[in-house]
Amino acid sequence: MVRRKLYQEVYRPQFHFTAKKNWLNDPNGLDYYEGEYHLFFQHNPSGINWGNIVWGHAVSSDMVNWKQLANAIEPDELGMIFSGSGVVDWNNTAGFQSGKERAMVNIYTSAGKPFAQSIAYSNDRGRTWRKYEKNPVLGHIAGENRDPKVIWHTSSKRWVMALYLDANNYALFASTNLKQWIRLCDIQLLGCSECPDIFELPVDGNAEKTKWVFWGGNGNYIIGTFDGRIFRRESEVLQSEWGANFYAAQTWSDIPDSDGRRLQIAWMSGGKYPDMPFNQQMSFPCQLTLSTTPEGIRLYRRPIKEIENIHQKEYSWNNQILEPGRNLLSDVQGGLLHIQTEVELGNAAEFGFILRGESIRYTTATSQLFCLGKSASLRPLQGKIKLEILLDRTSLEIFGNDGRISMSFCFLPDARDRNLKIYSLGGKARIVSLKIYELRSIWPESELEEADNG
Ligand code: FRU
Repeated sequence: MVRRKLYQEVYRPQFHFTAKKNWLNDPNGLDYYEGEYHLFFQHNPSGINWGNIVWGHAVSSDMVNWKQLANAIEPDELGMIFSGSGVVDWNNTAGFQSGKERAMVNIYTSAGKPFAQSIAYSNDRGRTWRKYEKNPVLGHIAGENRDPKVIWHTSSKRWVMALYLDANNYALFASTNLKQWIRLCDIQLLGCSECPDIFELPVDGNAEKTKWVFWGGNGNYIIGTFDGRIFRRESEVLQSEWGANFYAAQTWSDIPDSDGRRLQIAWMSGGKYPDMPFNQQMSFPCQLTLSTTPEGIRLYRRPIKEIENIHQKEYSWNNQILEPGRNLLSDVQGGLLHIQTEVELGNAAEFGFILRGESIRYTTATSQLFCLGKSASLRPLQGKIKLEILLDRTSLEIFGNDGRISMSFCFLPDARDRNLKIYSLGGKARIVSLKIYELRSIWPESELEEADNG
């Protein structure tokens, strides 16, 4: 018998969700019920690479600390279980509720020949799932149509499904019972495919003034209006993400009105995890908002405040001059960090961080942020730039100016290099404020050891 320390491996993310073992990709079936956030995910239970896809399942009380449960939905004669979404059927519109608990319904793609859309339900807070006996509920339409995202449309009192068809084409459907669907309208999202999302958000926090967002697999989106029947676009296709490892993001359903946030998690596609028992990781969950900018209304994305739940030691600086040759961080080392800073650019040509050997550089003349071969434009506000950074063992997520831009990266730093540096070049900048929090691992001690035969 071999005893292995699961969750402590050298390249195991410590505050990003990974499957205990084997492959994962898209987040699926995100909803909230009775104090639990549900995260289902595309999962190969028997292999380190993509294949044999089922829905894996994890729950959390804060979207930060996760516990993986038994796999929820397994392949059947209709095919593998591809991506989809989840809702709580508060009004029992599908008639699945059998006891006091509301039925939770997951809507997914049966990836057979051909691809069609199916549903499964749970009457025990998501612990066990039963497939609807008359699946599929929406037959084949085009190509490998897939990835149904279902929402409750309050004013028309119907369910609305966003579905990927093929090429750059998506469509919306409506249903009163999650079982029969009618086609509402088609939406083309140039440059995008797969994994749609659709949601309404206040603009600048004003609940009287809302817009709808229609979102595609690569994180590009359009803004418009939606009356329960037709989505009317009001923007070109916009970009929400400038990094290299961000895909198939989805937002949570059934967040209570008392909270009211639009919360999202993504697959950090493409990471490398040499010799690990798992493969791939999720992003850190983010809150989405809409704000008016000089360019028009834009989606902002920044880490959820619950990151505080894993804050440990705090370091803080205010009003410090950053000049060539001076590194404030020579006493701080770390592998798991939450960094927040506001920097007045002054006459510096460049400022940035070097975190575990990887640089994050802002160049004043071009107003560009660079990291790991990618760049993003970030206009200073009153001569200042704000950066928020999440550093885990194998990932780096950067948020500029309160979420105006985000850059998500997987990387493989030298495990021994825990050095940090903040620097300026070609002149002086001023650190208005800088806070660094060390973070603790989300994996509980009881999960650390597992008996294994072989
Ligand atoms: C996106 C995707 C989806 C599909 C799933 C299969 O990453 O290709 O379109 O449903 O992954 O795992």
